[in-house]
Amino acid sequence: NISMELPARPTLFDFHGVSMTKHFTDNWENTQNFKARPDDILIATYPKSGTTWVCYMLNLLYFGNMSPERQKSVTLNERVPFLELCAPPRPKGKDLADQLPTSPRLIKTHLPVQFVPKSFWEQRCRIVYVAHNSKDTVVSYYHFGRMNSLHPELGDWSTFLQDFMEGKMVFGSWYKHVNSWWEKKQTYSKLHYMFYEDLTEDSGREIDRLCSFLGLFPSAEEKEKVRAAVMFDNMKQNKMVNGSTVQIMNHDVSPFMRKGKVADWKNHFTVSQNERFDEDYKQKMKNPTLHFRTEV
Ligand code: A3P
Repeated sequence: NISMELPARPTLFDFHGVSMTKHFTDNWENTQNFKARPDDILIATYPKSGTTWVCYMLNLLYFGNMSPERQKSVTLNERVPFLELCAPPRPKGKDLADQLPTSPRLIKTHLPVQFVPKSFWEQRCRIVYVAHNSKDTVVSYYHFGRMNSLHPELGDWSTFLQDFMEGKMVFGSWYKHVNSWWEKKQTYSKLHYMFYEDLTEDSGREIDRLCSFLGLFPSAEEKEKVRAAVMFDNMKQNKMVNGSTVQIMNHDVSPFMRKGKVADWKNHFTVSQNERFDEDYKQKMKNPTLHFRTEV
Protein backbone atom coordinates (compact mmCIF):
# COMPACT_ATOMS: atom_id res chain seq x y z
CA ASN A 1 0.00 0.00 0.00
CA ILE A 2 1.83 3.05 -1.31
CA SER A 3 -0.14 5.58 0.72
CA MET A 4 1.01 3.84 3.95
CA GLU A 5 4.62 4.48 3.02
CA LEU A 6 4.22 8.19 2.45
CA PRO A 7 4.69 10.46 5.46
CA ALA A 8 1.72 12.53 6.60
CA ARG A 9 1.26 15.78 4.74
CA PRO A 10 2.82 18.76 6.54
CA THR A 11 0.90 21.63 8.11
CA LEU A 12 1.12 25.23 7.02
CA PHE A 13 2.27 27.75 9.64
CA ASP A 14 3.23 31.38 9.79
CA PHE A 15 6.96 31.91 9.48
CA HIS A 16 8.05 35.57 9.83
CA GLY A 17 4.85 36.61 8.09
CA VAL A 18 4.96 34.01 5.30
CA SER A 19 3.02 30.71 5.21
CA MET A 20 5.51 27.85 5.07
CA THR A 21 5.90 24.15 5.87
CA LYS A 22 8.72 22.51 7.80
CA HIS A 23 10.29 21.13 4.64
CA PHE A 24 11.46 24.61 3.75
CA THR A 25 12.24 26.00 7.21
CA ASP A 26 13.84 23.06 9.07
CA ASN A 27 17.31 23.80 7.69
CA TRP A 28 16.89 27.56 8.08
CA GLU A 29 20.15 28.58 9.79
CA ASN A 30 22.25 26.56 7.36
CA THR A 31 20.33 27.87 4.39
CA GLN A 32 20.68 31.45 5.57
CA ASN A 33 24.42 30.94 6.04
CA PHE A 34 24.90 29.55 2.53
CA LYS A 35 28.14 30.87 1.05
CA ALA A 36 27.44 32.02 -2.48
CA ARG A 37 30.22 32.45 -5.03
CA PRO A 38 30.23 35.41 -7.41
CA ASP A 39 29.49 33.21 -10.42
CA ASP A 40 26.57 31.34 -8.79
CA ILE A 41 23.27 31.80 -10.60
CA LEU A 42 20.08 31.78 -8.58
CA ILE A 43 16.81 30.85 -10.27
CA ALA A 44 14.03 32.26 -8.13
CA THR A 45 10.30 31.76 -8.59
CA TYR A 46 6.99 31.46 -6.82
CA PRO A 47 6.02 27.76 -7.08
CA LYS A 48 4.47 26.67 -10.40
CA SER A 49 5.89 29.52 -12.42
CA GLY A 50 7.97 27.60 -14.93
CA THR A 51 10.90 26.92 -12.59
CA THR A 52 11.73 23.54 -14.09
CA TRP A 53 11.53 24.95 -17.60
CA VAL A 54 14.00 27.77 -16.94
CA CYS A 55 16.28 25.57 -14.79
CA TYR A 56 16.57 23.13 -17.69
CA MET A 57 17.16 25.96 -20.15
CA LEU A 58 20.03 27.32 -18.06
CA ASN A 59 21.39 23.86 -17.46
CA LEU A 60 21.56 23.21 -21.20
CA LEU A 61 22.99 26.64 -22.01
CA TYR A 62 25.89 26.04 -19.61
CA PHE A 63 26.31 22.28 -19.66
CA GLY A 64 24.50 21.12 -22.79
CA ASN A 65 27.69 19.55 -24.02
CA MET A 66 28.06 17.26 -21.06
CA SER A 67 28.26 13.57 -21.78
CA PRO A 68 25.09 11.85 -22.99
CA GLU A 69 25.46 9.37 -20.11
CA ARG A 70 25.30 12.21 -17.59
CA GLN A 71 22.32 13.72 -19.44
CA LYS A 72 20.53 10.40 -19.08
CA SER A 73 21.48 9.57 -15.51
CA VAL A 74 21.59 12.77 -13.46
CA THR A 75 18.22 14.36 -12.74
CA LEU A 76 17.62 18.08 -13.08
CA ASN A 77 16.94 18.22 -9.32
CA GLU A 78 20.52 17.08 -8.72
CA ARG A 79 21.98 19.40 -11.35
CA VAL A 80 20.09 22.41 -10.00
CA PRO A 81 19.59 21.91 -6.23
CA PHE A 82 16.57 23.35 -4.46
CA LEU A 83 18.33 25.46 -1.81
CA GLU A 84 15.87 25.48 1.11
CA LEU A 85 14.51 21.95 0.66
CA CYS A 86 14.87 19.78 3.75
CA ALA A 87 12.84 16.58 3.38
CA PRO A 88 14.69 13.60 4.83
CA PRO A 89 15.69 11.02 3.82
CA ARG A 90 16.57 13.05 0.77
CA PRO A 91 19.76 15.12 0.92
CA LYS A 92 19.29 18.72 1.94
CA GLY A 93 19.27 21.22 -0.91
CA LYS A 94 21.89 23.37 0.78
CA ASP A 95 24.28 20.42 1.02
CA LEU A 96 23.72 19.49 -2.62
CA ALA A 97 24.44 23.09 -3.60
CA ASP A 98 27.66 23.08 -1.53
CA GLN A 99 28.75 19.88 -3.24
CA LEU A 100 27.94 20.87 -6.83
CA PRO A 101 30.92 19.99 -8.99
CA THR A 102 30.01 22.37 -11.81
CA SER A 103 30.88 25.98 -12.34
CA PRO A 104 28.86 28.11 -12.42
CA ARG A 105 26.55 26.56 -9.88
CA LEU A 106 22.87 26.81 -10.77
CA ILE A 107 20.67 26.99 -7.68
CA LYS A 108 16.90 27.04 -7.41
CA THR A 109 14.80 28.76 -4.76
CA HIS A 110 11.17 29.66 -4.10
CA LEU A 111 12.04 32.06 -1.28
CA PRO A 112 10.39 35.47 -1.19
CA VAL A 113 13.04 38.14 -1.76
CA GLN A 114 13.42 39.09 1.92
CA PHE A 115 14.44 35.49 2.78
CA VAL A 116 17.23 35.10 0.22
CA PRO A 117 20.53 34.34 2.00
CA LYS A 118 22.51 37.58 2.17
CA SER A 119 25.59 36.09 0.59
CA PHE A 120 23.88 36.13 -2.84
CA TRP A 121 23.56 39.91 -2.60
CA GLU A 122 27.04 40.41 -1.17
CA GLN A 123 28.59 38.36 -3.97
CA ARG A 124 26.45 40.22 -6.53
CA CYS A 125 25.24 36.94 -8.05
CA ARG A 126 23.13 36.91 -11.17
CA ILE A 127 19.50 36.07 -10.44
CA VAL A 128 16.86 34.91 -12.89
CA TYR A 129 13.31 35.40 -11.62
CA VAL A 130 10.39 33.78 -13.45
CA ALA A 131 6.83 34.99 -12.91
CA HIS A 132 3.60 33.34 -14.08
CA ASN A 133 0.19 34.99 -14.14
CA SER A 134 -1.82 34.45 -10.96
CA LYS A 135 -4.76 32.59 -12.50
CA ASP A 136 -2.71 29.92 -14.23
CA THR A 137 -0.38 29.70 -11.23
CA VAL A 138 -3.21 28.90 -8.82
CA VAL A 139 -4.61 26.25 -11.20
CA SER A 140 -1.20 24.65 -11.61
CA TYR A 141 -0.59 24.81 -7.85
CA TYR A 142 -3.92 23.13 -7.15
CA HIS A 143 -3.13 20.12 -9.33
CA PHE A 144 0.41 19.99 -7.96
CA GLY A 145 -0.94 20.02 -4.39
CA ARG A 146 -3.13 17.04 -5.18
CA MET A 147 -0.31 14.92 -6.60
CA ASN A 148 2.52 15.91 -4.24
CA SER A 149 2.58 14.54 -0.70
CA LEU A 150 4.97 17.27 0.49
CA HIS A 151 2.09 19.69 0.02
CA PRO A 152 -0.31 20.30 2.93
CA GLU A 153 -3.78 18.75 2.79
CA LEU A 154 -5.87 20.80 0.44
CA GLY A 155 -9.59 21.30 0.14
CA ASP A 156 -11.62 21.51 -3.03
CA TRP A 157 -10.87 23.94 -5.82
CA SER A 158 -12.94 26.84 -4.48
CA THR A 159 -11.32 26.57 -1.04
CA PHE A 160 -7.89 26.43 -2.62
CA LEU A 161 -8.64 29.51 -4.71
CA GLN A 162 -9.74 31.42 -1.61
CA ASP A 163 -6.59 30.31 0.26
CA PHE A 164 -4.47 31.52 -2.66
CA MET A 165 -6.11 34.94 -2.54
CA GLU A 166 -5.37 35.09 1.19
CA GLY A 167 -1.74 34.03 0.75
CA LYS A 168 -2.31 30.78 2.66
CA MET A 169 -0.01 28.84 0.36
CA VAL A 170 3.42 27.32 0.80
CA PHE A 171 5.83 30.26 0.16
CA GLY A 172 3.06 32.68 1.01
CA SER A 173 1.29 35.25 -1.08
CA TRP A 174 1.85 35.14 -4.85
CA TYR A 175 0.97 38.86 -4.95
CA LYS A 176 3.70 39.81 -2.47
CA HIS A 177 6.24 37.46 -4.07
CA VAL A 178 6.00 38.82 -7.60
CA ASN A 179 5.74 42.43 -6.43
CA SER A 180 8.66 42.43 -4.03
CA TRP A 181 10.93 40.68 -6.54
CA TRP A 182 9.84 43.25 -9.12
CA GLU A 183 10.75 46.07 -6.74
CA LYS A 184 14.12 44.46 -6.08
CA LYS A 185 14.85 44.59 -9.79
CA GLN A 186 14.70 48.40 -9.68
CA THR A 187 17.74 48.54 -7.36
CA TYR A 188 19.60 45.29 -8.10
CA SER A 189 20.83 45.35 -11.67
CA LYS A 190 21.86 41.70 -11.87
CA LEU A 191 18.27 40.48 -11.76
CA HIS A 192 16.56 39.27 -14.95
CA TYR A 193 12.77 39.18 -14.53
CA MET A 194 11.06 36.84 -17.00
CA PHE A 195 7.43 35.95 -17.67
CA TYR A 196 6.06 32.46 -18.34
CA GLU A 197 3.70 33.95 -20.92
CA ASP A 198 6.61 35.43 -22.89
CA LEU A 199 8.29 32.02 -22.86
CA THR A 200 5.27 30.28 -24.32
CA GLU A 201 4.92 33.02 -26.92
CA ASP A 202 8.50 32.92 -28.20
CA SER A 203 11.01 30.74 -26.37
CA GLY A 204 13.77 31.55 -28.89
CA ARG A 205 13.50 35.27 -28.13
CA GLU A 206 13.54 34.57 -24.39
CA ILE A 207 16.63 32.37 -24.76
CA ASP A 208 18.34 35.25 -26.58
CA ARG A 209 17.44 37.64 -23.76
CA LEU A 210 18.69 35.17 -21.18
CA CYS A 211 21.97 34.76 -23.04
CA SER A 212 22.57 38.47 -23.20
CA PHE A 213 21.86 38.80 -19.48
CA LEU A 214 24.23 35.91 -18.72
CA GLY A 215 26.91 37.01 -21.16
CA LEU A 216 26.67 33.78 -23.16
CA PHE A 217 27.27 33.55 -26.90
CA PRO A 218 26.01 30.17 -28.10
CA SER A 219 25.96 29.48 -31.84
CA ALA A 220 22.63 29.51 -33.68
CA GLU A 221 22.84 25.74 -33.83
CA GLU A 222 23.42 25.39 -30.08
CA LYS A 223 20.55 27.74 -29.32
CA GLU A 224 18.25 25.78 -31.59
CA LYS A 225 19.20 22.57 -29.79
CA VAL A 226 18.28 24.14 -26.46
CA ARG A 227 15.03 25.53 -27.83
CA ALA A 228 13.98 22.11 -29.10
CA ALA A 229 15.01 20.26 -25.92
CA VAL A 230 12.94 22.53 -23.66
CA MET A 231 9.72 22.25 -25.66
CA PHE A 232 6.91 20.99 -23.44
CA ASP A 233 6.41 17.68 -25.24
CA ASN A 234 10.11 16.93 -25.18
CA MET A 235 10.46 17.76 -21.51
CA LYS A 236 7.39 15.68 -20.71
CA GLN A 237 9.10 12.64 -22.26
CA ASN A 238 12.42 13.30 -20.55
CA LYS A 239 12.69 11.24 -17.34
CA MET A 240 15.51 13.41 -15.99
CA VAL A 241 13.30 16.51 -15.94
CA ASN A 242 9.65 15.36 -15.85
CA GLY A 243 9.50 14.53 -12.15
CA SER A 244 8.90 10.82 -12.76
CA THR A 245 11.82 9.90 -10.47
CA VAL A 246 10.43 11.91 -7.55
CA GLN A 247 8.78 9.42 -5.21
CA ILE A 248 6.58 11.83 -3.32
CA MET A 249 4.68 12.66 -6.51
CA ASN A 250 1.78 10.62 -7.83
CA HIS A 251 1.56 11.27 -11.54
CA ASP A 252 -1.63 9.21 -11.83
CA VAL A 253 -3.42 11.92 -9.84
CA SER A 254 -1.99 14.63 -12.12
CA PRO A 255 1.26 14.63 -14.11
CA PHE A 256 3.98 17.06 -13.05
CA MET A 257 4.26 18.14 -16.69
CA ARG A 258 0.56 18.79 -16.79
CA LYS A 259 -0.60 21.18 -19.55
CA GLY A 260 2.05 23.78 -20.19
CA LYS A 261 -0.43 26.25 -21.68
CA VAL A 262 -1.47 29.79 -20.92
CA ALA A 263 -5.18 30.34 -20.04
CA ASP A 264 -6.02 26.88 -18.68
CA TRP A 265 -7.58 28.91 -15.82
CA LYS A 266 -10.59 29.34 -18.10
CA ASN A 267 -11.32 25.64 -17.61
CA HIS A 268 -11.32 26.03 -13.82
CA PHE A 269 -12.68 29.44 -12.78
CA THR A 270 -16.44 29.93 -12.67
CA VAL A 271 -17.74 33.31 -13.83
CA SER A 272 -18.34 34.45 -10.27
CA GLN A 273 -14.97 33.17 -9.04
CA ASN A 274 -13.36 35.13 -11.85
CA GLU A 275 -15.18 38.34 -10.92
CA ARG A 276 -14.26 38.02 -7.27
CA PHE A 277 -10.67 37.22 -8.16
CA ASP A 278 -10.34 40.22 -10.50
CA GLU A 279 -11.79 42.58 -7.90
CA ASP A 280 -9.38 41.34 -5.24
CA TYR A 281 -6.46 41.42 -7.72
CA LYS A 282 -6.98 45.12 -8.37
CA GLN A 283 -6.66 45.83 -4.65
CA LYS A 284 -3.42 43.87 -4.33
CA MET A 285 -1.65 44.71 -7.59
CA LYS A 286 -1.26 48.47 -7.60
CA ASN A 287 2.13 48.77 -9.30
CA PRO A 288 1.34 50.05 -12.80
CA THR A 289 4.70 48.88 -14.19
CA LEU A 290 4.14 45.20 -13.39
CA HIS A 291 1.76 43.75 -15.91
CA PHE A 292 0.70 40.11 -16.38
CA ARG A 293 -1.02 38.58 -19.35
CA THR A 294 -3.64 35.89 -18.67
CA GLU A 295 -3.81 34.94 -22.34
CA VAL A 296 -1.37 35.18 -25.23
P1 A3P B 1 0.84 23.44 -15.66
O1 A3P B 1 0.51 22.79 -14.34
O2 A3P B 1 -0.06 24.61 -15.94
O3 A3P B 1 0.93 22.51 -16.80
P2 A3P B 1 7.23 24.72 -11.93
O4 A3P B 1 8.33 24.08 -12.68
O5 A3P B 1 7.56 26.07 -11.40
O6 A3P B 1 6.68 23.80 -10.88
O7 A3P B 1 6.07 25.03 -12.96
C1 A3P B 1 5.29 24.00 -13.46
C2 A3P B 1 4.43 24.49 -14.58
O8 A3P B 1 5.26 24.80 -15.71
C3 A3P B 1 3.46 23.41 -15.04
O9 A3P B 1 2.30 24.11 -15.50
C4 A3P B 1 4.26 22.77 -16.14
O10 A3P B 1 3.49 22.02 -17.06
C5 A3P B 1 4.84 24.00 -16.81
N1 A3P B 1 5.98 23.69 -17.69
C6 A3P B 1 7.07 22.96 -17.41
N2 A3P B 1 7.85 22.85 -18.50
C7 A3P B 1 7.24 23.53 -19.49
C8 A3P B 1 7.54 23.78 -20.87
N3 A3P B 1 8.64 23.29 -21.43
N4 A3P B 1 6.67 24.52 -21.57
C9 A3P B 1 5.55 25.01 -21.02
N5 A3P B 1 5.20 24.81 -19.74
C10 A3P B 1 6.04 24.07 -18.97
